[in-house]
Amino acid sequence: MSHVSMRRSSSFPQVAHPTMSEETKQPDSSWWRDAVIYEIAPISFQDSDGDGKGDLPGLLSRIDHLQWLGVDAVWLTPIYPSPFRDFGYDISDYCAIDPGFGSLADFDQLVSRLHQSGMRLIIDLVPNHTADDHAWFRESASSRDNAKADWYLWADPADNGGPPTNWISRFGGSAWEWCEARRQYYYHSFLVEQPDLNWRNPQVRAAIADVMRFWLRRGVDGFRVDASAVLIKDELLRDNPADPDAEGKPPPQRQRPVFTDDRPEAMHCIEFLRAVVDEFGGRLLCGEVQGKTDRIGHFYSNDEPRLHLPLNFALLDSEWTAHALQATIDAYYNAIPAGAWPVWVIGGHDKPRAASKLGAAQARVLAMLLLTLRGTPFFFMGDELGMTQASIPADRVVDPFEKLVGGYGLGRDPERVPLRWDDSPHGGFTDGEPWLPQGDPANNVARLKDEPTSLLHLYRALVALRRRTPCLTQGDYQPLRSRNDILAFRRTLGRNTILVLLNITHEPRRWPGDEQGECLLSTDPGRRRGAISGPIQLRADEGVIIALA
Ligand code: NOJ
Ligand code: MG
Repeated sequence: MSHVSMRRSSSFPQVAHPTMSEETKQPDSSWWRDAVIYEIAPISFQDSDGDGKGDLPGLLSRIDHLQWLGVDAVWLTPIYPSPFRDFGYDISDYCAIDPGFGSLADFDQLVSRLHQSGMRLIIDLVPNHTADDHAWFRESASSRDNAKADWYLWADPADNGGPPTNWISRFGGSAWEWCEARRQYYYHSFLVEQPDLNWRNPQVRAAIADVMRFWLRRGVDGFRVDASAVLIKDELLRDNPADPDAEGKPPPQRQRPVFTDDRPEAMHCIEFLRAVVDEFGGRLLCGEVQGKTDRIGHFYSNDEPRLHLPLNFALLDSEWTAHALQATIDAYYNAIPAGAWPVWVIGGHDKPRAASKLGAAQARVLAMLLLTLRGTPFFFMGDELGMTQASIPADRVVDPFEKLVGGYGLGRDPERVPLRWDDSPHGGFTDGEPWLPQGDPANNVARLKDEPTSLLHLYRALVALRRRTPCLTQGDYQPLRSRNDILAFRRTLGRNTILVLLNITHEPRRWPGDEQGECLLSTDPGRRRGAISGPIQLRADEGVIIALA
């Protein structure tokens, strides 16, 4: 199957993307530098068969909407066969589609429909662990001397018969589980039902490489690598030290995970994954890299290339003041190596919705910030609708994080609820009973499409402006000194300069500069586009994008 060349209609400039023959080395076309990437959790996007769960035919029926929104690529959370104990991140077969989502034929159709519509497709790759019903694990767990005996992390008990180390699972409790058949423990970074693969084993690496080639040949444009920082655990099985600041933290965070996370050898695994992706032309490797800004730089490369885009959630973690945001943005740009391409993520299936934290008015400012910073923007389906954390009654909780480590607000169901497309009872998501209760009926696509001043229209306008304004994609970022609670920066490309002013408060604020230019877009529908000159009186919660004269 040959890779489809990209065609984008009418006003959208073409993304340079040569027609690529399979498995020939092509120069890295870096399409993602200009792309806006939209995360979709298919189970909550659109149901087609009334089982209350979204599926691929449902997603196919909504491609027109994605095109209307203007995003360049979609990233899908896992759609592989799975018992779905962890949102599909527990995979039973890497090279198939879960029947609840559809078939491989539906998947192929999705690839070609997206490509025909000028969009690209990124899928989740979960190389750290499988589900415990994966054939590899069943074989590995059956004895100590089967062909896959060394495919997972097996260890003998400690001298007292207990777990080999003090390592704890992300979802609480010991990360080691006893297996009677082998009279050994296996390691699981996440659920007991998600055993970790042994990335020191070359056969495991080769098997995952084959999985990647399987999907790359089907035409996917890249992967988001799950849990890339934890692929390797300490070979000496050294205990993790206690976290001195553990007080009040949930149990899984009461250790410093120095021997389980972000090991130097994990970087070689990422280099290995990258080399597979580079066998094909123009494909993207982005990845989840737990950890703080100061660790993000080394996920790009050292001698060998690693991830193109290590996902950066710093905006979500930042305090929401002009000064704190300036510090966050500066710290991130300073932390990535020269020449590395930045990336900003403002939502995701593991993160509380930003609109809940910031409120509806500042959610508009966040949208403008995301789409005017230098670096590839990522947002999560529903962020453009202003979706907030849905409330989930105790008897409807699905996420194991909430079930196992309850009471700390760690549950991820509230951000994962199904979208609403219209005003009908289940928002047009399903004819059946939605798998999770849905959020605010007002945050629906049809209603917001009808309101020209809605957040949805603002997202669309920002995406379109970014696309037609190379200064916003490729331009340099220059911070300005924040004044009067206004987050301010410039983007420059050649002779073009764009000034971005974001009022981070709910009151009017004055920008004292004497700039002259043209207002290209405001978060406030009341402001006219056109000539503008300083000092500039910003309205409450207003952000403006100004092309300087
Ligand atoms: C990160 C995923 O984003 C999260 O949803 C999942 O629970 C863990 N990895 C385990 O795969
Ligand atoms: Mg369905």
